[in-house]
Amino acid sequence: MEIKDLKLSRELNEAISKMGFTELTPVQRDGILPVLEGQDVIVQAPTGTGKTCTFGIPLIENISPQDKKLGAVVLCPTRELVIQTAEELTRLARYKKGINIVPVYGGQPIDKQILLLKKRPQIIVATPGRLIDHLKRKTIKLRELKMLVLDEADEMLNMGFRDDLDIILKNAPEERQTVLFSATMPQEIIDIADNYQKENPVHIKVTGEELTVSTVKQYYLEIKLANRTDAIGRLIDANKYKLCMIFCNTKKKVDEICAELRQKRYPAEALHGDMKQMQRDRVMSRFKKGLAGILVATDVAARGIDIDGVDAVFNYEIPDDFEYYVHRIGRTGRAGNEGVSYTFASGRDIKKLKELMKYTKSEIVLGTLPSLKEVKKINLEGIRDTVIRILENDDVSDYHDYIDSAFEGVPSSHIAAALLKLMNEGEKKEEDKPGNEDFVRMFVNIGKMDKMGTNNMIDLLKSGGVSFEQIGKIDIGEKFSFIELEREASEIVTQTLNGTYYKKRKITFELSGKKKKEKPAVSKKQVKKPSSQGRRKK
Ligand code: CDP
Ligand code: MG
Repeated sequence: MEIKDLKLSRELNEAISKMGFTELTPVQRDGILPVLEGQDVIVQAPTGTGKTCTFGIPLIENISPQDKKLGAVVLCPTRELVIQTAEELTRLARYKKGINIVPVYGGQPIDKQILLLKKRPQIIVATPGRLIDHLKRKTIKLRELKMLVLDEADEMLNMGFRDDLDIILKNAPEERQTVLFSATMPQEIIDIADNYQKENPVHIKVTGEELTVSTVKQYYLEIKLANRTDAIGRLIDANKYKLCMIFCNTKKKVDEICAELRQKRYPAEALHGDMKQMQRDRVMSRFKKGLAGILVATDVAARGIDIDGVDAVFNYEIPDDFEYYVHRIGRTGRAGNEGVSYTFASGRDIKKLKELMKYTKSEIVLGTLPSLKEVKKINLEGIRDTVIRILENDDVSDYHDYIDSAFEGVPSSHIAAALLKLMNEGEKKEEDKPGNEDFVRMFVNIGKMDKMGTNNMIDLLKSGGVSFEQIGKIDIGEKFSFIELEREASEIVTQTLNGTYYKKRKITFELSGKKKKEKPAVSKKQVKKPSSQGRRKK
């Protein structure tokens, strides 16, 4: 079924065609018409099945720009989802001038929201907690509400919004339409539907089965926990993945894996529920812009987030709830693109993997881990291709002159080999590091002898008020260690941690002066004066 079969208004049709799709997803095929007709609908479907448009299209179609009353409220569990949903609705409303959509969520100054609310929006997208705040202040009134959407309802319950939902639902006019979306249907959701929806709502269910078949190639790799981060790095290198998501079952693992990847100089960032909203926003926007191409996340934190162009999903562990697996791999292969997922398993997990395949009715095939040699070969081939392209298309005569004078007498194959090494090994080092220029290097007088490890160090820094993303490379030495920290964080730790104790040792953090210089790429014996340009950048 196609969009045009819905016989929508011209404004909607044009907006949707501008968004770039013509076919309806299964949820939309079954859901849009009932919602359009004003029926209560309850939808069970995994992430990425097009739920936003399922309520968004009818919502925008039915709302009149002239009517300056609050007609619809959409509730979402997190701030990210509120923003994302408000953006999608705004795209749908592009050609219906006068429709005002306001996102409302915790963490944003309330006065700012109140100002926006004074402009009498017809649609509010909100997290439950903040909506209640506004109801109490009477800055939002639900008197005229015609439609209430509960998006990701199970997640809202998981996040403890049960009481808030009750208050909101009780405050909304009885004569209204209630549309409920949930990935899972635990009893609590059924209760909400029973209590707050009209009798016999339209039920729509799309299972993981329909989702996983399509565009995601699913692999598993039999690799022990201790080696999984290395394996991820290798797969990323060998396949040149630009945007990846790594899922872990716990927040602790998320932090650990992220730290390990960053130590290996991969541009990884963590996303989990313990982070402040501001940090989460920053992480998401850096990921979306491709500035930090590896997102390490828990299931809850990543729920519902819609990002196109994710090349690969890694399941560091098999999730305990198999439904999560479907959600996880649904982040790649979106919008008809090819995607790939890798699931790590070892020992007893293999049995779990078999159950998972049965549950998802899909085949997860044994993948192969590229060897280091292969990775190197692939990298070198990439460089070779680039060099050939440059030789074919660009004028490099300036560089010729420089080489002649700077590397007098050195055979050109030597120079080329050194440059190749620089490109191959130097690349992933300084340049890709998130916010590298704001980082300083600190010395701390504690090391392995004090039973200090990377994770203990992270815990220690956090206890001193530093957030995870302010921490860069950690080098734990025998008696002391070096840590890269954001400048601001370095000031914080000297104040909060210096003079306190780790085990029995008094802690001292201090700035460690300049970074260690890299060795020149060409040794002095070969060339009389290796100029600074002969070295790595920085
Ligand atoms: O809410 P849910 O996780 O089901 O998915 P979504 O956030 O609505 O994301 C669906 C993505 O597919 C969005 O990027 C849409 O623009 C796109 N899409 C759609 O919603 N409907 C189609 N018929 C085709 C694409
Ligand atoms: Mg959604």
